[in-house]
Amino acid sequence: MAEELIIATTADKQERYDTLVPQIEALVTGEKDVVANLSNIAAALKQTMDFFWAGFYMVRDNQLVLGPFQGPIACTRIDFGKGVCGTSWKEQKTILVPNVDEFPGHIACSSASKSEIVLPAFKDGQVALVLDVDSDKLNDFDTTDQRALEQVMRLIEKFL
Ligand code: SME
Repeated sequence: MAEELIIATTADKQERYDTLVPQIEALVTGEKDVVANLSNIAAALKQTMDFFWAGFYMVRDNQLVLGPFQGPIACTRIDFGKGVCGTSWKEQKTILVPNVDEFPGHIACSSASKSEIVLPAFKDGQVALVLDVDSDKLNDFDTTDQRALEQVMRLIEKFL
């Protein structure tokens, strides 16, 4: 397992993801501990992409519970269908939010967060967790992020 992350210095985010995603695959290959792997993925995302907040909410007893993350402290529990995370869980799909103030029911863990993307990972056909990534800039996520982060979700599903 590589212990040092190679970070592309280019401003092109597709190139940064192209460098990052294979390293995430290498990081988790051969390790089956979910907390260890999610912790390293959150750190790798934050280090490479310089997101304001990147982390996981795990489905536990009909709620989402905060899991490994990088960034400021965050809300610990989110109900089914609530906020962006709970909506991604309920609708079982990626949700891109260009402006969090325009998303009905958005849960503001930090007032600095301006845009957001949330993606689900599945186990046995059910959502097992969501990845939440927040930016302190408006409209910071697009289909480039969605495609690359969905690749990361498929890697996560291999060890869930
Ligand atoms: N904004 C999220 C809550 C989690 S924090 O942003 C880390 C939501 O609306 O679900």
